[in-house]
Amino acid sequence: VNHVRTSAFKGLRSPERRCLTMSQILTVPTQPIEGQKPGTSGLRKKTRIFMGRHYLENFTQSLFDAVGGVQDKVLVLGGDGRFFNDRAVQVILRMAAASGAARVIVGQGGILSTPAASHLIRLRGADGGIILSASHNPGGIDEDFGMKYNGANGGPAPESLTDKMFARSQELTEYRILEAQDIELNRLGEQALAGLVVEVVDPVADYATLMESLFDFDAIRSLIAGGTRLSFDAMHAVTGPYAREIIETRLGAPKGTVLNAQPLPDFGGGHPDPNPVWAKELMDQMFAADGPDFGAASDGDGDRNMIVGKGAYVSPSDSLAILAANARLAPGYAKGLAGVARSMPTSRAVDRVAAKAGLECHETPTGWKFFGNLLDAGRVTLCGEESFGTGSDHVREKDGLWAVLLWLNILAVKRQSVAELLREHWAEYGRTYYSRHDYEAVASDRANALVERLRGLLAGLPGQSFAGLTVEAADDFAYLDPVDGSTSKQQGIRVLFTNGARVVMRLSGTGTEGATLRVYLESYETDPAQHGLDAQEALAPVIAAAEELAQIRDFTGRSQPDVTT
Ligand code: G6P
Ligand code: ZN
Repeated sequence: VNHVRTSAFKGLRSPERRCLTMSQILTVPTQPIEGQKPGTSGLRKKTRIFMGRHYLENFTQSLFDAVGGVQDKVLVLGGDGRFFNDRAVQVILRMAAASGAARVIVGQGGILSTPAASHLIRLRGADGGIILSASHNPGGIDEDFGMKYNGANGGPAPESLTDKMFARSQELTEYRILEAQDIELNRLGEQALAGLVVEVVDPVADYATLMESLFDFDAIRSLIAGGTRLSFDAMHAVTGPYAREIIETRLGAPKGTVLNAQPLPDFGGGHPDPNPVWAKELMDQMFAADGPDFGAASDGDGDRNMIVGKGAYVSPSDSLAILAANARLAPGYAKGLAGVARSMPTSRAVDRVAAKAGLECHETPTGWKFFGNLLDAGRVTLCGEESFGTGSDHVREKDGLWAVLLWLNILAVKRQSVAELLREHWAEYGRTYYSRHDYEAVASDRANALVERLRGLLAGLPGQSFAGLTVEAADDFAYLDPVDGSTSKQQGIRVLFTNGARVVMRLSGTGTEGATLRVYLESYETDPAQHGLDAQEALAPVIAAAEELAQIRDFTGRSQPDVTT
């Protein structure tokens, strides 16, 4: 046995010391493990890797060390319920106890959606929180697992902190863990783990109360009572219990409105990714003759959303623009918005709303963490991303159910269908056609070569034409954070054409296998007679220009994208 027993009980108060006589803190020698580098949204790996010897323990210790230790701190802990969630929670609790944390607030059963965890951190004034999720990636022993850290503001750790975690993981020689029995994660209330208080809380209650404070539940209830039919696909992921409580119990929608409501460790074998490809069951319903009036879906950890009307898909970029234009109709936003922000690849539809309303509008790199400073500084109220994420300053994460409720609140006030609202919005602001084409699990060297080649071409692009479109400007997006002055470079190749169209290309920061090339396509149409086209059709010239410019087929070896959103 290479465990070293320590007597690290010095300085503890006597009741704690009594507990410690029954459990021992072990200091376990370990070695750095390669690749513990958090990406866009925490550390994501195959589940079996996380389950490997010392893997979770090493990363947890690196995280604790990077945040300056957890001695006397209060943390929030929970995850999306995927395979290994419950085991990982027990390990992290024992490690938090061994490192002297004062209190860990855990969602019952180890469950917390990402936005609910963000809220809980803020509500309880915690020092931070750990969320176990690989978001929309599939779950199971042969699928994905993940772990991310959010700070005291409830938002994702900034790059400076995740870099520290990685650096620490590369020099780690030991970790501390308590030898103890499992905590009963299903029992609400406090339990002791040596000197640590583990507080098991209802994962839904506080979040549901927050939603009631932002939206006019009476108006939504009467919309539903008046016959508007809803369908919410929880995709066997974490939002099932949240959506049942809020949509069925508090808002009075009929039982069964929430589809796939039972969270499962493998999400029922699906991808819990709310887009037209993976939420096909919902899409089929919404495009059926007798389908519901309003449909929505959320992802593994509850921060993403997809909105669909009867026969009308709403692109995430349009959703952000429409929410920005109408947010005032909900009580939580009645005072108006301070400003808006979108990630760079997100379409410029929201910019047009901001311009008309005279609002600040920020363009940030991909990743919710980049909105944190703007939200904390009160510069923006709403933000969103093309990757099915929308949120506001109510938490520091994107929030799937929040977006659904804001949509319902707006529809309840305007008494319009989704399709009517879309048409009205496009007529006023013009339609920004938008699509994203993903090429998944591409050999990393080929994907990098494609991007490198484009970087080399950038300076010479203005004035050149590709498939008939002329380049007006091109760059590799760099962001200067107006709040803390930090810069982030090489955030995506951006090519603007003289007709207002745009192509963006970047490699995903969330994949777990090879590289994923994302190609973001956008064009702008002011003529209402041209607003009814299929997005792929409307974007055909831009798609052709992207291919001619980037030679995507050659580099990826694919004749078409794996996923189109
Ligand atoms: C996660 C992040 C988002 C990001 C999305 C796509 O959901 O929270 O902020 O937009 O992943 O990131 P990727 O790097 O894969 O394009
Ligand atoms: Zn997610």
